[in-house]
Amino acid sequence: MIEVNHVSKQYRRDINVVDDVSFTVEKNRIFGLLGPNGAGKTTLMQMISTLLRPSAGSISVCGMDSVRDARAIHGKIGFLTSEVRLDPFSTPDKLFDFFGKLYQLEPSRVSMRKEESFDRFGIGPFADKKIAELSTGMKQKISIAISLIHDPPVIIFDEPTNGLDILTAFQVTEYLTELGKNGHAVLLSTHIFSVAEALCDEIAVMIDGKIVAEGDIAGIISGTGERSFEKSFLSLYKKHHRE
Ligand SMILES: Nc1ncnc2c1ncn2[C@@H]1O[C@H](COP(=O)(O)OP(=O)(O)OP(=O)(O)O)[C@@H](O)[C@H]1O
Ligand SMILES: [Mg+2]
Repeated sequence: MIEVNHVSKQYRRDINVVDDVSFTVEKNRIFGLLGPNGAGKTTLMQMISTLLRPSAGSISVCGMDSVRDARAIHGKIGFLTSEVRLDPFSTPDKLFDFFGKLYQLEPSRVSMRKEESFDRFGIGPFADKKIAELSTGMKQKISIAISLIHDPPVIIFDEPTNGLDILTAFQVTEYLTELGKNGHAVLLSTHIFSVAEALCDEIAVMIDGKIVAEGDIAGIISGTGERSFEKSFLSLYKKHHRE
């Protein structure tokens, strides 16, 4: 459902912050981009979500081109990024209604989705509180629920568990696992090994804009000849990081 073909991105003329990246994410799969700060994960995910244009290469989402068919793609993806902030003066209840209208969902469907997510994430008691008054974890759960209000087949989550305590992080990873099993294609980024290990069917290690290893964890470990996933990552980093 997501196909990335030889994609590069330059902000300034000389360096590719994303450098000739290719991969595919199929339905019922959770694909993780694992990389250190500045690796290019957010830039890549913004290109897949049509917010940025690739400098080279092409991306297709549900068979549609990310540049030509950007508008049609919006209805097919749920995108979450730390860069987006909820309106601090709104409330969870109002935000659900707002995004429901934005996606042109029937009011009855909005109510249903609202109820489902409020139950799942314990948002109910905070439904009418101002966003500004809510905890980091609650805000993140609301962002996640809203980004998926239209039940999109493709899910693109940039660092979904960042800043969350272990219980909230678990609720989020559990939800993503469930979505990954029932017909969705999930792409997520993280720099947290345990998140990658717990969630992903396939991992691409990204360093300085390039994918330097790809596969399941066992494959990545054996490919580097190290004994643990962390050690494999460090060895890949030493080998590929440009000074
Ligand atoms: N708008 C921009 N203009 C110029 N350079 C940018 C811009 N956005 C990102 N960069 C640079 O591109 C590189 C990749 O950044 P990006 O945010 O994609 O990395 P990341 O892997 O998401 O990192 P993090 O783990 O810190 O979120 C970095 O060197 C960053 O400084
Ligand atoms: Mg980032």
